[in-house]
Amino acid sequence: MSSVFRNDILAGKVAFVTGGGSGIGRGITLAMMAHGADAVIVGRNADRLAATARELGAETGRACLAHAADVREPASVEAALDTALTAFGRIDVVVNGAAGNFLAPAAGLSYNGFRTVMAIDALGTYNVCKAAFDRRLRDHGGNIINLSATLHYGATPMQTHAAAAKAAVDSLTRSLALEWGSLGIRVNAIAPGPIGDTEGVKRLAPGEMGARLRRAIPIGRFGTIDEIANVALFLASDGASLVNGAVVVADGGAWLGAARIGAMLD
Ligand code: COA
Repeated sequence: MSSVFRNDILAGKVAFVTGGGSGIGRGITLAMMAHGADAVIVGRNADRLAATARELGAETGRACLAHAADVREPASVEAALDTALTAFGRIDVVVNGAAGNFLAPAAGLSYNGFRTVMAIDALGTYNVCKAAFDRRLRDHGGNIINLSATLHYGATPMQTHAAAAKAAVDSLTRSLALEWGSLGIRVNAIAPGPIGDTEGVKRLAPGEMGARLRRAIPIGRFGTIDEIANVALFLASDGASLVNGAVVVADGGAWLGAARIGAMLD
């Protein structure tokens, strides 16, 4: 795997990645392993997780453990962290990649639909941060990277639920960075724009909608999973030692044209 980073920047580290079984979470895990880390990936689908862990281990020669858990359930998160600590004795990087989303107008959302996305994205991120803090980070420092979005910078149609959840993720990122920085814990977020090779773009911008969206992005294309993984690698590395409480937008400038894009999708 060719990389702009030295291949040992995460040597000796352990990454704990929710949503690591597929998409951006899988890509971030692969990149971290390819740069020296061992990993624990967490998600709801045990079969997919196990297959991904095997693939990533074979591809990088590092250890990858799969643990099925639901980030909405604190006990389930705690068990996953305990598994990671028992297996590796440490956790250095926590990536909150687990997310849920679907296209729905506010008028068509049920109470439970809104709550479900808030629970996975916002509460799930908090649950993992808190449990990782209590079990490891408070005493040893570390690095938290939350997956956010740009949906809430203006407003995004059919995304009331996810926009509210990601706004909460940004707020958590800043509050935890403020309170935990003195303990050697850096907390940052990445806000990806549309990433072409993900389930998200397939679901949220299908067919012609996707083509119009791509044309409206300043750099003229969707991002790739590898490009988001590069941002995560930077944030996890000592190269970002001064970066704390930041939300790094990696979207080719897409959100700058949000109004234009919204009008085009009308
Ligand atoms: N439009 C409106 N409401 C929807 C919906 C849609 N497309 N999809 C799900 N919902 C509602 C359901 O109707 C349900 O509400 P109800 O009980 O009032 O009917 C509620 O959301 C929960 O759905 P459920 O399928 O029971 O939840 P789940 O926990 O199994 O799944 C989701 C969570 C809904 C987020 C699901 O899409 C998921 O698991 N996604 C994971 C993958 C993903 O979204 N990745 C991110 C891509 S950007």
